[in-house]
Amino acid sequence: MKKMEFVFLLIFFPVTLSVKHSLKFFLTASSGVKNFPDYLAVGLVDEVLILYWDSIRRKTEAKEDWSQKVLDNDPQLLELYTQECLLSQYKYTAKIEILKKQLNQTGDVHIFQLMFGCEWDDENGEKNGFVQYGYDGEDFIAFDLKTLTWIAPKPEAVITKHKRDRDRPNNERWKYFLTEHCPTLVKTYLDYGKSSLLRTELPSVSLLQKTPSSPVSCFATGFYPDRAEIFWRKDGEELHENVELGEILPNHDGSFQMSVDLNLSSVTPEDWRRYECVFHLSVVKDEIITKLDKAVIKSNCVPPSEFPAGPVIGGVGGLLLLLAVCITGVFIWRRRNNGFKPANCFRLIIH
Ligand SMILES: *[C@@H]1O[C@H](CO)[C@@H](O)[C@H](O)[C@H]1NC(C)=O
Ligand SMILES: *[C@@H]1O[C@H](CO)[C@@H](O)[C@H](O)[C@H]1NC(C)=O
Repeated sequence: MKKMEFVFLLIFFPVTLSVKHSLKFFLTASSGVKNFPDYLAVGLVDEVLILYWDSIRRKTEAKEDWSQKVLDNDPQLLELYTQECLLSQYKYTAKIEILKKQLNQTGDVHIFQLMFGCEWDDENGEKNGFVQYGYDGEDFIAFDLKTLTWIAPKPEAVITKHKRDRDRPNNERWKYFLTEHCPTLVKTYLDYGKSSLLRTELPSVSLLQKTPSSPVSCFATGFYPDRAEIFWRKDGEELHENVELGEILPNHDGSFQMSVDLNLSSVTPEDWRRYECVFHLSVVKDEIITKLDKAVIKSNCVPPSEFPAGPVIGGVGGLLLLLAVCITGVFIWRRRNNGFKPANCFRLIIH
């Protein structure tokens, strides 16, 4: 029996949930990290990597056919990305040197980051945006789009906060970018990439158990997008006790996997049929229901090497590392004059 067996049936329920789409940029300048570029920038639409730039290749690279098409059809956008990346490479690598001096740090590893982006809800048109700076893995300062002011979680950022709060034109530019330009870009990318970004794939769902006394794991793999839920039900009621929900993890092929464990140590065999595992992909109406049944559990004959969880680690490792570096922190810095270029109607990297 090569393939895991599973039982499922589909039920319809009446609501379609709205879907938020996002465009995010992560800029990372680093010093002293071996075998890692001093500066790299990535762009993601709905968490899919679409743009890449690093200080070694110094070239805006589209990472998907459709994100390449966006650039082909809008050379000004390509030029803008390239200019911004060149500029911010110098700006942010220099910033590390300034911060090191200010904070009396020596030549160890330092990382300076900027993350910004927006979300757009395709049902109700709601928009949101964020800008955060970080230094050495800690938040430094973040933008409050509602009040157009800056939030400083650390005392050393308070001076910067006040300076930035007073720079109304810069804050207005951020607002314009986050609430107008960025959502427009999201829509453009969605339009070009819809066959990939808006696809839905239902997973295969299996019940797995390492040993007869282990919890039963309900394992769903191969779904897309990553907005999904999985849970156990008893007599039609969602269970919260004796369950352990795993994280959504990426597979090699761009799909996702997720599992939820159920500890059955105090459940009698006769009661097993009262339990079922439910998987629900948020963008579709269907639920995949798997009844708890000893006969369909892939059991203790599974050598550890075959037990799912392994598949995730390999291919996406690089990207995960990249994102880990990007996401780990948000920043610190003293604002300097960044010389706004009036020629552009907006700038990706304001300051
Ligand atoms: C950095 O070192 C100098 C001289 O040792 C000292 O005067 C200054 O207060 C230090 N600054 C910080 C931020 O620790
Ligand atoms: C399952 O639950 C029992 C008691 O309810 C507990 O003793 C046992 O440690 C649990 N097993 C796991 C793997 O959590």
